[in-house]
Parts: sequence; C-alpha cells; structure tokens
Amino acid sequence: MPTEEDIKNALKSVKYPGYTRDIVSFGLVKEIASQQGAVSVSMNLTANNPEIARKIKDESEAALKALPGVKSVFVEVKQPATAPAQPGTWGQQSRVPGIQRIVAVASGKGGVGKSTVSVNLACGLVHLGAQVGLLDCDIYGPSIPLMMGVHEKPTISEEEKMVPPANYGVKVMSMGLLLDGDQPVIWRGPMIMKTIQQFVMSVEWGTLDFLLVDLPPGTGDAQLSLCQTVPLDGGVIVTTPQEASLGVVRKGIAMFQKVNVPILGIVENMSYYTTPTGERVEIFGHGGGKAEATRQRVPFLGEVPIFTEIREGGDRGVPVAISAADKPAGQAFIHIAEGLRNALP
Ligand SMILES: Nc1ncnc2c1ncn2[C@@H]1O[C@H](COP(=O)(O)OP(=O)(O)OP(=O)(O)O)[C@@H](O)[C@H]1O
Ligand SMILES: [Mg+2]
Repeated sequence: MPTEEDIKNALKSVKYPGYTRDIVSFGLVKEIASQQGAVSVSMNLTANNPEIARKIKDESEAALKALPGVKSVFVEVKQPATAPAQPGTWGQQSRVPGIQRIVAVASGKGGVGKSTVSVNLACGLVHLGAQVGLLDCDIYGPSIPLMMGVHEKPTISEEEKMVPPANYGVKVMSMGLLLDGDQPVIWRGPMIMKTIQQFVMSVEWGTLDFLLVDLPPGTGDAQLSLCQTVPLDGGVIVTTPQEASLGVVRKGIAMFQKVNVPILGIVENMSYYTTPTGERVEIFGHGGGKAEATRQRVPFLGEVPIFTEIREGGDRGVPVAISAADKPAGQAFIHIAEGLRNALP
C-alpha cells in the first residue's frame, strides 16, 4: 500500500502546465487519503481555468495509477467559483487562446506608482523565466511605452492582427503607441471598451504566461467596466502606506470582488526612503499596506522603498528590474514578482 509520502512523491512528477515546477511545491495538494488500494487526492486551484484543471487531474491520476498496489484513483481539482456569465462580461468561454493568466494592476488613486509597479513586475516576471505581455489600459494618460522604452508602432500580421512591439522580453500594447505625438484622446466609454477588447483579442500576444494589465487610476465605474471587459484571473492593488491607512485599498478590493476577480495581493509602494547615511525615513507612515492586507485577509506581496533610480529608470525607459536586478531597488520588484507567480499557479 502506498503511504502518503509515496503519493506525494508520485504527484511531484506532475508539472503545473506551462511551468517547470510541480504541483506539490506549488501547494496545490490539500488532502490525501489511501485505503485498500483506493487513493483519493483533493487539490485547490487558484486560477479559474478548466483546461488546466483537467490536465492536472489527468496527469495526477496517471501518476498515481502507476504506483504499486493502487487499484483505483480519484483526484478532485477544485476551482474558485466564478460569477455566471452576464451580457457584456466574460464567461469562461472567452479565455484568450495562448494566454495563461491575465492579471490587472489597480490603485485607488493616481500617482501611487501603479505603472511603475506594472512595468517592473512585468520585467521581474521575465527575470524569473516567464513569457510576459503588458497591456496599458490607461487611454488618457498612457505612460507604459515611455517607462518600457518602447516607441515603435505595432505592425500588422498576415492575419490582420496587431503585433505588439517588445522590449526587455515584454510585449507591450498601449494607446500611446497608436497616437501621434501628444494629441489628446477624447473618447467616450463604449469606444474605450471596444479598443481594450481589441487590445486583448486582436493583438497577436502569442504564448504568454502572464498578461499584466495596467488599469487607469481609481476604482470607479470606468475601471469596473474595464475589469469586465478583460477576462481577468486576478488583481493586484498598489498603494502607498498613507493611501492604505485612509481605507482607499478597500475600494480596490470591493471593485475586484464585484466582478469576482480573485485578489492576489497588495503591493505597498513608496514605503520608505533611505538617506545617504542609511537612515530610514517613513514619509507616508509605516506598514499601512501590510496592516490593511491583514485586516482584509488578502496576501501582502511586498513593499517597494522610494529610490531615485526607480524614477530615473521610468524616465529613461529602463526599469530597475532590468538595470538593477541585483540591487535593492530591482530586488524589491523581483521579490514581488515571485509572490505574484506563486499566488497564481
Ligand atoms: N518607489 C518609487 N521610488 C521613486 N519614484 C517612484 C517610485 N514609484 C513611483 N515613482 C515615481 O513616481 C511617479 C508616479 O509613478 P507612476 O507613474 O508609476 O504612478 P501611477 O500610479 O501609474 O500614476 P498615474 O495615476 O498617473 O497613472 C513617477 O515619476 C515614478 O517614476
Ligand atoms: Mg499610471
């Protein structure tokens, strides 16, 4: 009869689809029972992807059946509940082929460093070996092209799809790439939705482990409808310690909950500043993001201090996750990218 340890070891041969890591180390396996040659295993998936669930189930059952003494096997793969598809929102059938996970980055207010975090998370995920795209949904103030150092326009493929330009291994799509110069965009909501839909569906993203979506700042109706326009697998909320202490984060959480998008965690940006003499100055207070995450029972993904090189990197179009991957500024983002990757197997 196989022991629990034998069963775990067998399951370690099953890789999470698209990853080199196995399902046990990802923490998917929750319960193991074995009796008289019958083995049953229960797993929890955080991603809502029936295809992945089926693949994991099939491969796990095959691995367990191969164990000596095993006569029958039952593997249950639980997935988070999703809202029933409503008109205008995405049901599971609308997944984008080739894209494993779509993750939105949101913030309660402007200027908290949301785009900076999106850009560096994208580069951080590439650093970790993932294939990554970055979609700028900020139609009125697109800053991603500048921060990513991407200036060329998308080309058009034979299938008449837009081919996104890339830099540092990140494929980028933004309204900023389609407009000439600084002409203002005067669009009404429905046109924005249509454009964003095309940015997801009619762009040749290829195979991606992650498509990060930089939402416009705020958690109002405009952001909410964007969350319904894109088939999201999860959301990340960026905050400053101060914003968190004012309860703004709760609005972000409420927004994602309304559209049944799992909250993958909170990132606290501009946490503190280190003076040249090494003194830590907490300009916006301390630990607001973490405290709010604990209160709201959502994961805390990490904090990013204020570093001059983070702003300079943004202005130069060379994110610190690229130029300073081995220094504190870059490491802060790579650490958060790791947390994000592990939050959404
Ligand atoms: N940790 C940091 N250290 C230093 N500068 C930072 C940090 N985070 C962001 N900044 C700088 O703060 C400014 C605002 O950041 P960013 O544009 O990313 O914010 P945002 O929330 O996307 O703003 P918007 O609401 O306009 O979209 C930028 O100049 C950026 O370089
Ligand atoms: Mg921004």
